[in-house]
Amino acid sequence: MGLTTPLCALLGIEVPVVQAPIGSATTPALAAAVSEAGALGTLSITWVEPSRAASLVTRTRELTDKPFAVNVSLDFAVEAQVDAALEAGARIVSTFWGEAASLHPAIADAGALHLHTVRSPEEARAAVDAGADVVVAQGWEAGGHVWGEVASLPLVPAVVDAVAPVPVIAAGGIGDGRGLAAVLALGAQAAWLGTRFLTATEANTHELYRDRVVSATVTDTAYTGCFNGGWPDAPHRVLRNATLDAWEQAGRPAAPDRPGEGEVVARDPRGGDVPRYFDLMPWRGLEGDVAEMALYAGQ
Ligand SMILES: Cc1cc2nc3c(=O)[nH]c(=O)nc-3n(C[C@H](O)[C@H](O)[C@H](O)COP(=O)(O)O)c2cc1C
Repeated sequence: MGLTTPLCALLGIEVPVVQAPIGSATTPALAAAVSEAGALGTLSITWVEPSRAASLVTRTRELTDKPFAVNVSLDFAVEAQVDAALEAGARIVSTFWGEAASLHPAIADAGALHLHTVRSPEEARAAVDAGADVVVAQGWEAGGHVWGEVASLPLVPAVVDAVAPVPVIAAGGIGDGRGLAAVLALGAQAAWLGTRFLTATEANTHELYRDRVVSATVTDTAYTGCFNGGWPDAPHRVLRNATLDAWEQAGRPAAPDRPGEGEVVARDPRGGDVPRYFDLMPWRGLEGDVAEMALYAGQ
């Protein structure tokens, strides 16, 4: 038997690895490939119509009969997406950026498992009191939107102690088997990897973004509020690029006084412009200065 934890039995997976929700980079092909490999794949459904959330779940189910999860950010109106996903058969729902209590009844009533991401032991306790089945502790090293300001090494054991025996998954800065072993040693029952999956063949990420992620080193990311168009007041970790450098050199002015404010930096030939400072990451087929968009990545 391979490496396993009690959480694997709860989720119905073979190895204690989760492909983290990584926004628009998630696809049914990615989630299904990860789940077929014995880990847990995840679809992000925050920024899609409810009917699309349902069809993403249906498509993933066609590609695998193994468990997979759907994820929403609670900073947006997501009830309809979650209801549609549950209706389409989603059996694991993960929530982020808010209080577990807000969506727990809908998830539990559908008989689904609820994973909730936290930034402190207090929040972990509140999530479990609200009914969450699993807690995800996201450390400050994480890529994408970063909920807390505590690094994984201190956060994970503090959260484990706060909610034992409820299982904890560690997120932030985990890139390989050594990271997985380290968080298991801290008491986590699985690792939640985001940046690592941005470069998977099945991920919907632009070639240039993939290249930047692959060639980046541990010192190349910044924790910032720079790319706040579409999601204000939500700190995030990105690779340093020209947009961030110019904004910092200008003294981090507020909108609308930022360098290059209002410029369209990239364009989707199928329709859709990406203005500078927007929270979107480069996806496949996008044209223009995609290197100047938000290049989310963990340390
Ligand atoms: C490009 C990108 C998009 C993300 N989008 C989401 C999301 O939609 N929902 C969510 O809960 N977390 C999101 N996250 C955070 C991840 O789930 C996870 O916490 C993080 O990637 C872990 O750190 P790592 O990138 O160092 O592995 C995103 C992360 C990245 C890199």
